Amino acid sequence: MSKTVATRPYDDQKPGTSGLRKRVPHFQQPNYAANFIQSIFAAARVEPGSTLVIGGDGRFFNREVIGLAIRMAAANGYGRIVVGRNGILSTPAASNLIRKRGASGGIILSASHNPGGPNGDFGIKYNVSNGGPAPEKVTEAIFRHTRTISEYRIVEDAAPDLSVLGETRLGDATVEIVDPVSDYAALMEELFDFAKLRDLVASGFRLRFDAMHAVTGPYAHEILEKRLGAPAGTVINGEPKEDFGGGHPDPNAVYAAELISEMMGPAAPDFGAASDGDGDRNLIVGRGIVVSPSDSLAVLAANAHLAPAYAKGIAGIARSMPTSGAADRVAEKLKVGIYETPTGWKFFGNLLDAGKVTICGEESAGTGSDHVREKDGLWAVLLWLNILAVRRESVSEIMAAHWREYGRTFYQRHDYEEIDKAAADGLMESLRQRLASMAGQRFGTLVVSEADDFSYKDPVDGSISTGQGVRIVFSGGSRIVFRLSGTGTQGATLRVYIERFEPDPARHGDAPADALAELVRTADVIGEIKARTGREEPDVVT
Ligand code: G6P
Ligand code: ZN
Repeated sequence: MSKTVATRPYDDQKPGTSGLRKRVPHFQQPNYAANFIQSIFAAARVEPGSTLVIGGDGRFFNREVIGLAIRMAAANGYGRIVVGRNGILSTPAASNLIRKRGASGGIILSASHNPGGPNGDFGIKYNVSNGGPAPEKVTEAIFRHTRTISEYRIVEDAAPDLSVLGETRLGDATVEIVDPVSDYAALMEELFDFAKLRDLVASGFRLRFDAMHAVTGPYAHEILEKRLGAPAGTVINGEPKEDFGGGHPDPNAVYAAELISEMMGPAAPDFGAASDGDGDRNLIVGRGIVVSPSDSLAVLAANAHLAPAYAKGIAGIARSMPTSGAADRVAEKLKVGIYETPTGWKFFGNLLDAGKVTICGEESAGTGSDHVREKDGLWAVLLWLNILAVRRESVSEIMAAHWREYGRTFYQRHDYEEIDKAAADGLMESLRQRLASMAGQRFGTLVVSEADDFSYKDPVDGSISTGQGVRIVFSGGSRIVFRLSGTGTQGATLRVYIERFEPDPARHGDAPADALAELVRTADVIGEIKARTGREEPDVVT
């Protein structure tokens, strides 16, 4: 039996770069999660009897909201509700299940790389039938519904036990609890040459994977240790915890410091990697070298043909606007299309569906391909391993060869976290007002050649997204981008993205901090960062 429950709207349920993210106590307000889930169903307008996938990264509050979402889906006309055992599904595994099961969509409970726990972050996002994040027209419809919602529907019965595989009836729907790993692992076996990977591992190649106490633990244990034969202990922090062991499940130099210091040390394994809270990001580290995400995208695109799934070549590459131009030079050489989109994986969906691109990536540690419609952390690790297994060179040798062939783009992102929202808006507004007069201005040796506020017209559906970040390009191609994060939950986060192209191989070994020093100083002059935010230094440099 289902019932209708009266509710009142909240005014702050606008989805950001990747769904609705707030602190857990905020989500625990009466009907807060139920309102948003009902608004998803209202905006999704699916055919009665459709399939819905539900899963999450296992963070605190996951179980409650999964139970709620199952009971609400059963009352809103879904015929089949597919749920990962114990509510676990990594974001790419959820994307795969949506596609494989012909589902009309999926609800993923995660705040990605943000910390979890009773006072940590929580999030709900909706993915559509292609397996990818809902496009803006859907997230806008969800938001509109949250503003006027007056009731939601839910079945009175309890949700089934999430730990037991198999089917149960709930209201008019069937709830199916599935193993979260098996379909995903099968897909990886189709894409990559597991026999070659097993040979690589058996030859004594040593790898380390840090699951950061987050969702990829079970996936990495199964794939890297069981199927590829890497010794037990290869996967560290492999048990998902509700609070990620108190850590910050963001695979970057700050939060994956343990892995990085091992990889820089004398007994470093050959290859290190980490993934984030929900398993869609990746960090790639070789012995003595951290590979920047923009470089990783370029190397993966240039070498993808070495893996069976991409042996016929790739159709094109897409990168988010703040991601460096390294991939552009690969696309040029391969004579394939290159697309520059706003930040957010959802912008790649149409390009992938239309077959215009095969590989996509973002500076924010995300890379993926047309195998699903999300970025995919373990996929990137396996593609790297497949390339290493064929080339039998070290990560640093591969990077050095890549830079010799294509030139090197030095890159850094400076994040100023939890700054005052008004100060952040003021900084961006001031930049926008000065854009028209910027071209031709000189800062030290740098001369501005172009300055704009990035807007994007989707080449497939013609939709337009404006205000996606201020770009300041200097003659010679160096670039500074200013943008406010769309995924923070507290105050505002200013991101400053800095890059410089260096064709001269003699300078490829320079430290990025040195190569970019003048641009970093210029970013402060143009952005008035210190003066407006009161911060002397960024909180995180990636
Ligand atoms: C999420 C999205 C990515 C995006 C990233 C950074 O991880 O899935 O597509 O690049 O957030 O977003 P932000 O708005 O915080 O820079
Ligand atoms: Zn993530």
